[in-house]
Amino acid sequence: MATIRTQVGIIGAGPAGLTLAHLLHLQGIESVVLESHTREYVENRVRAGVLEQGTVDILREAGVGDRMQREGLTHHGVELRFGGKGHRIDFQDLVGKSITVYAQQEVVKDLITARLSYGSPLLFEAEAMGIKDFDSQPRIQYQHAGIRHEIACDFIAGCDGFHGICRPAVPAEMLQIHERTYPFAWLGILAKVAPASEELIYTYHERGFALMSMRSPEVSRLYLQCSPEEDLEKWPDERIWEELRTRMATDDGFVLKDGPILQRGIAPMRSFVAEPMQFGKLFLLGDAAHIVPPTGAKGLNLAVADVRVLTRGLVEVYKHGNREALRGYTERCLRRVWRGQRFSSWMTSMLHRFPNEDGFSHHIHLAELDYVTSSRAASMALAENYVGLPFDTPGLF
Ligand code: FAD
Ligand code: PHB
Repeated sequence: MATIRTQVGIIGAGPAGLTLAHLLHLQGIESVVLESHTREYVENRVRAGVLEQGTVDILREAGVGDRMQREGLTHHGVELRFGGKGHRIDFQDLVGKSITVYAQQEVVKDLITARLSYGSPLLFEAEAMGIKDFDSQPRIQYQHAGIRHEIACDFIAGCDGFHGICRPAVPAEMLQIHERTYPFAWLGILAKVAPASEELIYTYHERGFALMSMRSPEVSRLYLQCSPEEDLEKWPDERIWEELRTRMATDDGFVLKDGPILQRGIAPMRSFVAEPMQFGKLFLLGDAAHIVPPTGAKGLNLAVADVRVLTRGLVEVYKHGNREALRGYTERCLRRVWRGQRFSSWMTSMLHRFPNEDGFSHHIHLAELDYVTSSRAASMALAENYVGLPFDTPGLF
Protein backbone atom coordinates (compact mmCIF):
# COMPACT_ATOMS: atom_id res chain seq x y z
CA MET A 1 0.00 0.00 0.00
CA ALA A 2 1.47 3.37 -1.08
CA THR A 3 1.61 5.99 1.68
CA ILE A 4 1.57 9.72 1.05
CA ARG A 5 2.43 12.27 3.68
CA THR A 6 0.77 15.58 4.30
CA GLN A 7 0.07 17.99 7.13
CA VAL A 8 -3.74 17.85 7.10
CA GLY A 9 -5.74 14.98 5.61
CA ILE A 10 -9.18 16.31 4.61
CA ILE A 11 -12.03 13.89 3.99
CA GLY A 12 -14.84 15.33 1.85
CA ALA A 13 -14.95 17.99 -0.89
CA GLY A 14 -18.15 19.73 0.19
CA PRO A 15 -18.12 23.38 1.30
CA ALA A 16 -16.33 22.52 4.58
CA GLY A 17 -13.47 20.44 3.11
CA LEU A 18 -12.83 22.70 0.12
CA THR A 19 -12.92 25.94 2.12
CA LEU A 20 -10.59 24.47 4.73
CA ALA A 21 -8.13 23.25 2.08
CA HIS A 22 -8.09 26.68 0.47
CA LEU A 23 -7.63 28.69 3.69
CA LEU A 24 -4.84 26.34 4.79
CA HIS A 25 -3.13 26.75 1.42
CA LEU A 26 -3.22 30.54 1.84
CA GLN A 27 -1.40 30.05 5.14
CA GLY A 28 1.21 27.73 3.63
CA ILE A 29 -0.22 24.58 5.26
CA GLU A 30 -0.35 21.49 3.02
CA SER A 31 -3.34 19.21 2.73
CA VAL A 32 -4.76 16.37 0.64
CA VAL A 33 -8.52 16.33 -0.04
CA LEU A 34 -10.33 13.02 -0.65
CA GLU A 35 -13.79 12.97 -2.22
CA SER A 36 -15.72 9.78 -2.85
CA HIS A 37 -17.85 11.21 -5.69
CA THR A 38 -16.88 12.55 -9.11
CA ARG A 39 -16.12 16.21 -9.73
CA GLU A 40 -19.22 16.45 -11.90
CA TYR A 41 -21.41 15.06 -9.12
CA VAL A 42 -20.26 17.49 -6.42
CA GLU A 43 -20.41 20.43 -8.81
CA ASN A 44 -24.03 19.71 -9.66
CA ARG A 45 -25.49 18.70 -6.30
CA VAL A 46 -28.35 21.15 -5.64
CA ARG A 47 -28.44 22.19 -1.99
CA ALA A 48 -28.12 25.45 -0.08
CA GLY A 49 -28.54 28.89 -1.53
CA VAL A 50 -28.27 31.53 1.18
CA LEU A 51 -24.89 32.87 2.32
CA GLU A 52 -24.54 34.99 5.42
CA GLN A 53 -22.53 38.18 5.08
CA GLY A 54 -19.75 36.65 7.20
CA THR A 55 -19.51 33.66 4.82
CA VAL A 56 -19.37 36.00 1.82
CA ASP A 57 -16.64 38.06 3.52
CA ILE A 58 -14.52 34.95 4.19
CA LEU A 59 -14.79 33.73 0.58
CA ARG A 60 -14.00 37.20 -0.72
CA GLU A 61 -11.01 37.72 1.56
CA ALA A 62 -9.76 34.29 0.54
CA GLY A 63 -9.78 35.38 -3.11
CA VAL A 64 -12.55 33.03 -4.29
CA GLY A 65 -15.37 35.57 -4.35
CA ASP A 66 -15.11 37.13 -7.83
CA ARG A 67 -17.84 35.15 -9.53
CA MET A 68 -19.99 35.24 -6.40
CA GLN A 69 -19.71 39.03 -6.43
CA ARG A 70 -20.70 39.17 -10.11
CA GLU A 71 -23.44 36.55 -10.17
CA GLY A 72 -24.67 36.35 -6.55
CA LEU A 73 -27.86 38.21 -5.71
CA THR A 74 -27.62 40.58 -2.74
CA HIS A 75 -30.83 40.64 -0.70
CA HIS A 76 -31.58 43.28 1.89
CA GLY A 77 -34.66 41.57 3.32
CA VAL A 78 -37.05 38.60 3.25
CA GLU A 79 -40.81 38.31 3.31
CA LEU A 80 -42.81 36.39 5.89
CA ARG A 81 -46.25 35.57 4.51
CA PHE A 82 -49.27 34.40 6.50
CA GLY A 83 -53.01 35.03 6.60
CA GLY A 84 -52.89 36.03 2.93
CA LYS A 85 -50.52 38.96 3.53
CA GLY A 86 -46.81 39.54 3.13
CA HIS A 87 -44.62 41.31 5.73
CA ARG A 88 -41.11 42.39 4.86
CA ILE A 89 -38.23 42.00 7.31
CA ASP A 90 -35.84 44.75 6.25
CA PHE A 91 -32.34 43.56 7.15
CA GLN A 92 -30.67 46.74 6.03
CA ASP A 93 -32.86 48.94 8.18
CA LEU A 94 -32.90 46.58 11.19
CA VAL A 95 -29.28 45.40 11.38
CA GLY A 96 -27.46 47.10 8.49
CA LYS A 97 -26.46 43.81 6.82
CA SER A 98 -27.55 41.65 3.91
CA ILE A 99 -27.39 38.08 2.61
CA THR A 100 -26.26 36.73 -0.76
CA VAL A 101 -28.18 34.18 -2.78
CA TYR A 102 -25.54 32.11 -4.55
CA ALA A 103 -25.90 28.35 -4.95
CA GLN A 104 -23.79 26.01 -2.85
CA GLN A 105 -22.64 24.14 -5.96
CA GLU A 106 -21.32 27.42 -7.38
CA VAL A 107 -19.27 27.98 -4.20
CA VAL A 108 -18.02 24.41 -4.60
CA LYS A 109 -17.09 25.02 -8.28
CA ASP A 110 -15.18 28.21 -7.40
CA LEU A 111 -13.22 26.43 -4.66
CA ILE A 112 -12.40 23.45 -6.90
CA THR A 113 -11.18 25.79 -9.66
CA ALA A 114 -8.96 27.62 -7.16
CA ARG A 115 -7.54 24.40 -5.72
CA LEU A 116 -6.75 22.91 -9.11
CA SER A 117 -5.18 26.19 -10.29
CA TYR A 118 -2.35 25.86 -7.80
CA GLY A 119 -2.09 22.12 -8.28
CA SER A 120 -2.67 20.94 -4.70
CA PRO A 121 -4.03 17.41 -4.30
CA LEU A 122 -7.80 17.03 -4.59
CA LEU A 123 -8.72 13.45 -5.45
CA PHE A 124 -12.16 12.60 -6.80
CA GLU A 125 -13.58 9.07 -6.66
CA ALA A 126 -11.24 8.56 -3.72
CA GLU A 127 -13.21 7.06 -0.87
CA ALA A 128 -11.87 7.11 2.67
CA MET A 129 -12.41 3.58 4.03
CA GLY A 130 -11.06 4.06 7.54
CA ILE A 131 -9.13 6.37 9.85
CA LYS A 132 -6.62 5.17 12.43
CA ASP A 133 -4.48 6.29 15.36
CA PHE A 134 -5.98 9.73 15.53
CA ASP A 135 -4.63 10.30 19.02
CA SER A 136 -1.05 9.54 17.98
CA GLN A 137 0.01 9.43 14.29
CA PRO A 138 -3.15 9.72 12.24
CA ARG A 139 -3.63 7.71 9.06
CA ILE A 140 -6.38 7.61 6.48
CA GLN A 141 -6.95 4.56 4.34
CA TYR A 142 -8.64 5.20 1.04
CA GLN A 143 -9.45 3.56 -2.24
CA HIS A 144 -8.74 5.26 -5.56
CA ALA A 145 -9.16 3.62 -8.98
CA GLY A 146 -9.55 0.23 -7.32
CA ILE A 147 -6.26 0.52 -5.40
CA ARG A 148 -5.83 1.00 -1.66
CA HIS A 149 -3.65 3.89 -0.48
CA GLU A 150 -2.79 5.49 2.82
CA ILE A 151 -2.26 9.06 3.96
CA ALA A 152 -0.09 9.74 7.00
CA CYS A 153 -0.83 13.18 8.43
CA ASP A 154 -0.53 15.43 11.48
CA PHE A 155 -4.29 16.06 11.66
CA ILE A 156 -7.47 14.65 10.11
CA ALA A 157 -10.30 17.00 9.16
CA GLY A 158 -13.59 15.06 8.98
CA CYS A 159 -15.54 17.14 6.45
CA ASP A 160 -17.42 14.09 5.17
CA GLY A 161 -20.99 15.18 5.86
CA PHE A 162 -23.69 13.54 7.94
CA HIS A 163 -23.23 10.05 6.41
CA GLY A 164 -19.43 10.05 6.43
CA ILE A 165 -17.01 7.70 8.18
CA CYS A 166 -15.25 10.05 10.62
CA ARG A 167 -17.91 10.51 13.27
CA PRO A 168 -18.71 6.75 13.39
CA ALA A 169 -14.96 6.04 13.82
CA VAL A 170 -15.08 7.64 17.27
CA PRO A 171 -15.95 5.16 20.05
CA ALA A 172 -19.64 5.67 20.84
CA GLU A 173 -19.01 6.16 24.57
CA MET A 174 -16.88 9.22 23.80
CA LEU A 175 -19.65 10.97 21.87
CA GLN A 176 -22.73 12.69 23.11
CA ILE A 177 -25.47 13.00 20.52
CA HIS A 178 -28.28 15.56 20.77
CA GLU A 179 -30.92 14.96 18.14
CA ARG A 180 -34.42 15.88 17.09
CA THR A 181 -36.29 14.68 14.04
CA TYR A 182 -39.32 16.44 12.65
CA PRO A 183 -42.57 14.85 11.50
CA PHE A 184 -42.27 16.51 8.08
CA ALA A 185 -39.86 17.03 5.17
CA TRP A 186 -39.42 19.44 2.24
CA LEU A 187 -40.30 18.67 -1.33
CA GLY A 188 -37.93 20.93 -3.28
CA ILE A 189 -37.94 21.86 -6.96
CA LEU A 190 -35.68 23.83 -9.24
CA ALA A 191 -37.71 25.42 -12.05
CA LYS A 192 -36.88 27.35 -15.17
CA VAL A 193 -39.05 30.35 -14.41
CA ALA A 194 -38.25 33.87 -13.19
CA PRO A 195 -38.63 34.20 -9.39
CA ALA A 196 -42.08 35.51 -8.46
CA SER A 197 -40.54 38.11 -6.19
CA GLU A 198 -37.16 39.80 -5.78
CA GLU A 199 -36.71 38.45 -2.25
CA LEU A 200 -37.28 35.08 -0.56
CA ILE A 201 -40.80 34.39 0.69
CA TYR A 202 -41.29 32.16 3.76
CA THR A 203 -44.98 31.23 3.98
CA TYR A 204 -47.01 29.76 6.81
CA HIS A 205 -50.34 28.26 5.73
CA GLU A 206 -52.85 25.90 7.34
CA ARG A 207 -51.88 23.32 4.72
CA GLY A 208 -48.21 23.71 5.61
CA PHE A 209 -45.05 25.69 4.94
CA ALA A 210 -43.92 26.93 1.51
CA LEU A 211 -40.75 28.77 0.46
CA MET A 212 -39.96 30.68 -2.70
CA SER A 213 -36.25 31.11 -3.27
CA MET A 214 -34.16 31.45 -6.40
CA ARG A 215 -30.86 30.74 -8.08
CA SER A 216 -30.77 33.44 -10.76
CA PRO A 217 -33.12 35.90 -12.45
CA GLU A 218 -34.26 32.95 -14.64
CA VAL A 219 -34.33 30.05 -12.17
CA SER A 220 -36.55 29.62 -9.10
CA ARG A 221 -36.06 27.25 -6.18
CA LEU A 222 -39.27 26.36 -4.35
CA TYR A 223 -40.08 24.14 -1.39
CA LEU A 224 -43.26 22.66 0.10
CA GLN A 225 -43.69 21.05 3.50
CA CYS A 226 -44.64 17.39 2.97
CA SER A 227 -44.64 14.10 4.85
CA PRO A 228 -41.22 12.44 5.41
CA GLU A 229 -42.66 9.35 3.64
CA GLU A 230 -43.96 11.38 0.70
CA ASP A 231 -43.87 9.56 -2.63
CA LEU A 232 -42.55 11.90 -5.36
CA GLU A 233 -44.41 9.82 -7.94
CA LYS A 234 -47.64 11.21 -6.50
CA TRP A 235 -46.53 14.76 -7.24
CA PRO A 236 -46.90 15.47 -10.96
CA ASP A 237 -45.79 18.99 -11.92
CA GLU A 238 -49.29 20.43 -11.93
CA ARG A 239 -49.99 19.24 -8.37
CA ILE A 240 -46.77 20.86 -7.11
CA TRP A 241 -47.58 24.22 -8.71
CA GLU A 242 -51.20 24.07 -7.52
CA GLU A 243 -50.14 23.40 -3.94
CA LEU A 244 -47.55 26.19 -4.04
CA ARG A 245 -50.19 28.59 -5.38
CA THR A 246 -52.68 27.64 -2.67
CA ARG A 247 -50.21 28.11 0.14
CA MET A 248 -48.67 31.31 -1.20
CA ALA A 249 -51.90 33.03 -2.28
CA THR A 250 -52.42 36.60 -1.04
CA ASP A 251 -55.46 38.83 -0.71
CA ASP A 252 -54.06 41.08 -3.42
CA GLY A 253 -53.69 38.40 -6.09
CA PHE A 254 -50.07 37.19 -5.94
CA VAL A 255 -49.20 35.42 -9.19
CA LEU A 256 -46.90 32.40 -9.18
CA LYS A 257 -45.99 31.50 -12.74
CA ASP A 258 -44.95 27.92 -13.45
CA GLY A 259 -42.22 26.63 -15.70
CA PRO A 260 -40.37 23.42 -16.54
CA ILE A 261 -39.16 21.59 -13.42
CA LEU A 262 -35.43 20.90 -13.82
CA GLN A 263 -34.84 18.93 -10.65
CA ARG A 264 -36.89 17.65 -7.70
CA GLY A 265 -36.24 15.88 -4.42
CA ILE A 266 -37.35 15.31 -0.84
CA ALA A 267 -35.15 16.60 1.98
CA PRO A 268 -35.64 15.23 5.50
CA MET A 269 -35.54 17.63 8.46
CA ARG A 270 -33.28 17.01 11.39
CA SER A 271 -31.51 18.81 14.23
CA PHE A 272 -28.35 17.00 15.31
CA VAL A 273 -25.26 17.86 17.33
CA ALA A 274 -22.32 15.56 18.15
CA GLU A 275 -20.21 16.62 21.09
CA PRO A 276 -17.25 17.01 21.35
CA MET A 277 -16.17 17.88 17.80
CA GLN A 278 -12.55 16.78 18.33
CA PHE A 279 -10.80 13.57 19.41
CA GLY A 280 -7.03 13.79 19.65
CA LYS A 281 -5.95 14.91 16.19
CA LEU A 282 -9.32 14.31 14.52
CA PHE A 283 -11.61 17.32 14.01
CA LEU A 284 -15.20 17.14 12.77
CA LEU A 285 -16.54 20.04 10.71
CA GLY A 286 -19.88 21.01 9.16
CA ASP A 287 -22.56 18.37 8.62
CA ALA A 288 -20.22 15.65 9.96
CA ALA A 289 -20.76 17.19 13.41
CA HIS A 290 -24.09 19.00 13.20
CA ILE A 291 -27.23 19.28 11.10
CA VAL A 292 -29.91 21.96 11.23
CA PRO A 293 -33.32 21.96 9.55
CA PRO A 294 -32.98 24.18 6.45
CA THR A 295 -35.61 26.76 7.53
CA GLY A 296 -32.98 29.12 8.95
CA ALA A 297 -30.57 28.66 5.98
CA LYS A 298 -27.72 28.00 8.41
CA GLY A 299 -26.10 24.64 7.44
CA LEU A 300 -23.46 25.79 4.97
CA ASN A 301 -22.76 28.91 7.00
CA LEU A 302 -22.10 26.90 10.17
CA ALA A 303 -19.76 24.63 8.19
CA VAL A 304 -17.73 27.67 7.04
CA ALA A 305 -17.67 29.03 10.61
CA ASP A 306 -16.13 25.72 11.84
CA VAL A 307 -13.52 26.01 9.08
CA ARG A 308 -12.57 29.47 10.27
CA VAL A 309 -12.05 28.23 13.84
CA LEU A 310 -10.00 25.19 12.78
CA THR A 311 -7.86 27.21 10.37
CA ARG A 312 -6.97 29.67 13.12
CA GLY A 313 -6.09 26.81 15.45
CA LEU A 314 -3.88 25.07 12.89
CA VAL A 315 -2.13 28.33 11.99
CA GLU A 316 -1.29 28.79 15.69
CA VAL A 317 0.18 25.27 15.82
CA TYR A 318 2.24 25.49 12.63
CA LYS A 319 3.38 29.11 12.93
CA HIS A 320 3.80 29.53 16.69
CA GLY A 321 3.86 25.98 18.09
CA ASN A 322 0.87 26.89 20.24
CA ARG A 323 -1.84 24.22 20.69
CA GLU A 324 -4.09 26.26 22.97
CA ALA A 325 -6.45 27.48 20.23
CA LEU A 326 -6.94 23.92 18.93
CA ARG A 327 -7.87 22.74 22.41
CA GLY A 328 -10.75 25.20 22.41
CA TYR A 329 -12.05 24.10 18.98
CA THR A 330 -15.19 22.29 20.18
CA GLU A 331 -16.19 24.98 22.63
CA ARG A 332 -15.78 27.78 20.10
CA CYS A 333 -17.67 25.98 17.35
CA LEU A 334 -20.48 24.71 19.54
CA ARG A 335 -21.28 28.13 20.91
CA ARG A 336 -22.21 29.25 17.38
CA VAL A 337 -23.72 25.88 16.45
CA TRP A 338 -26.17 25.95 19.38
CA ARG A 339 -27.25 29.48 18.56
CA GLY A 340 -27.76 28.31 14.96
CA GLN A 341 -29.72 25.30 16.25
CA ARG A 342 -31.93 27.53 18.40
CA PHE A 343 -32.71 29.86 15.49
CA SER A 344 -33.32 27.03 13.01
CA SER A 345 -35.64 25.09 15.30
CA TRP A 346 -37.52 28.27 16.20
CA MET A 347 -38.04 29.23 12.53
CA THR A 348 -39.07 25.64 11.78
CA SER A 349 -41.64 25.47 14.59
CA MET A 350 -43.07 28.87 13.79
CA LEU A 351 -43.53 28.21 10.07
CA HIS A 352 -44.56 24.52 9.85
CA ARG A 353 -47.74 22.64 10.70
CA PHE A 354 -47.17 19.72 13.04
CA PRO A 355 -49.44 16.64 12.72
CA ASN A 356 -52.72 16.89 14.66
CA GLU A 357 -52.43 20.60 15.35
CA ASP A 358 -55.73 22.13 16.37
CA GLY A 359 -57.19 25.60 15.98
CA PHE A 360 -55.38 26.76 19.10
CA SER A 361 -51.98 25.87 17.64
CA HIS A 362 -52.88 27.54 14.36
CA HIS A 363 -53.63 30.78 16.21
CA ILE A 364 -50.38 30.53 18.14
CA HIS A 365 -48.47 30.31 14.82
CA LEU A 366 -50.33 33.36 13.54
CA ALA A 367 -49.83 35.32 16.76
CA GLU A 368 -46.12 34.58 16.76
CA LEU A 369 -45.77 35.68 13.15
CA ASP A 370 -47.85 38.78 13.88
CA TYR A 371 -45.55 39.61 16.79
CA VAL A 372 -42.34 38.95 14.84
CA THR A 373 -43.43 41.16 11.97
CA SER A 374 -44.97 44.01 14.00
CA SER A 375 -42.49 44.41 16.85
CA ARG A 376 -39.25 46.11 15.86
CA ALA A 377 -37.43 44.25 18.66
CA ALA A 378 -38.66 40.85 17.44
CA SER A 379 -38.00 41.66 13.75
CA MET A 380 -34.52 42.75 14.69
CA ALA A 381 -33.85 39.48 16.52
CA LEU A 382 -34.91 37.52 13.44
CA ALA A 383 -32.85 39.73 11.12
CA GLU A 384 -29.75 39.57 13.33
CA ASN A 385 -29.80 35.77 13.32
CA TYR A 386 -30.75 35.36 9.66
CA VAL A 387 -27.92 37.52 8.29
CA GLY A 388 -25.54 35.72 10.69
CA LEU A 389 -24.45 36.52 14.23
CA PRO A 390 -21.13 38.33 14.43
CA PHE A 391 -17.99 36.22 14.94
CA ASP A 392 -16.33 36.43 18.37
CA THR A 393 -13.18 37.80 16.79
CA PRO A 394 -12.98 39.92 13.63
CA GLY A 395 -11.00 39.23 10.44
CA LEU A 396 -10.15 36.03 8.65
CA PHE A 397 -6.96 34.92 10.42
P1 FAD B 1 -21.35 18.04 2.57
O1 FAD B 1 -21.76 19.13 1.66
O2 FAD B 1 -22.31 16.94 2.84
O3 FAD B 1 -19.99 17.43 2.00
C1 FAD B 1 -19.44 16.22 2.46
C2 FAD B 1 -18.63 15.60 1.34
O4 FAD B 1 -17.93 14.46 1.83
C3 FAD B 1 -19.49 15.11 0.20
O5 FAD B 1 -19.02 15.63 -1.03
C4 FAD B 1 -19.36 13.59 0.26
O6 FAD B 1 -19.45 12.98 -1.02
C5 FAD B 1 -17.98 13.44 0.87
N1 FAD B 1 -17.76 12.16 1.56
C6 FAD B 1 -18.58 11.51 2.41
N2 FAD B 1 -18.02 10.37 2.85
C7 FAD B 1 -16.79 10.30 2.27
C8 FAD B 1 -15.73 9.34 2.30
N3 FAD B 1 -15.83 8.23 3.06
N4 FAD B 1 -14.62 9.56 1.58
C9 FAD B 1 -14.50 10.69 0.81
N5 FAD B 1 -15.49 11.63 0.73
C10 FAD B 1 -16.62 11.43 1.45
N6 FAD B 1 -27.41 25.50 4.29
C11 FAD B 1 -27.36 26.86 4.27
O7 FAD B 1 -26.44 27.43 4.87
N7 FAD B 1 -28.26 27.63 3.58
C12 FAD B 1 -29.28 27.06 2.91
O8 FAD B 1 -30.03 27.78 2.24
C13 FAD B 1 -29.40 25.62 2.94
N8 FAD B 1 -30.38 24.99 2.26
C14 FAD B 1 -30.37 23.62 2.19
C15 FAD B 1 -31.36 23.02 1.44
C16 FAD B 1 -31.38 21.63 1.32
C17 FAD B 1 -32.46 20.99 0.52
C18 FAD B 1 -30.37 20.83 1.98
C19 FAD B 1 -30.36 19.32 1.85
C20 FAD B 1 -29.39 21.44 2.73
C21 FAD B 1 -29.38 22.82 2.85
N9 FAD B 1 -28.41 23.47 3.59
C22 FAD B 1 -28.39 24.85 3.63
C23 FAD B 1 -27.38 22.70 4.29
C24 FAD B 1 -26.06 22.62 3.53
O9 FAD B 1 -26.27 22.13 2.23
C25 FAD B 1 -25.07 21.72 4.29
O10 FAD B 1 -25.02 22.15 5.64
C26 FAD B 1 -23.67 21.74 3.67
O11 FAD B 1 -23.64 20.96 2.50
C27 FAD B 1 -22.62 21.17 4.65
O12 FAD B 1 -21.37 21.11 4.03
P2 FAD B 1 -20.30 20.01 4.42
O13 FAD B 1 -19.11 20.30 3.60
O14 FAD B 1 -20.19 19.94 5.89
O15 FAD B 1 -20.95 18.62 4.00
C1 PHB C 1 -32.55 27.74 -0.97
O1 PHB C 1 -32.53 28.70 -1.76
O2 PHB C 1 -32.27 26.58 -1.34
C2 PHB C 1 -32.94 27.97 0.44
C3 PHB C 1 -33.21 29.24 0.86
C4 PHB C 1 -33.56 29.46 2.19
C5 PHB C 1 -33.68 28.39 3.05
C6 PHB C 1 -33.39 27.10 2.62
C7 PHB C 1 -33.03 26.88 1.30
O3 PHB C 1 -34.06 28.61 4.34
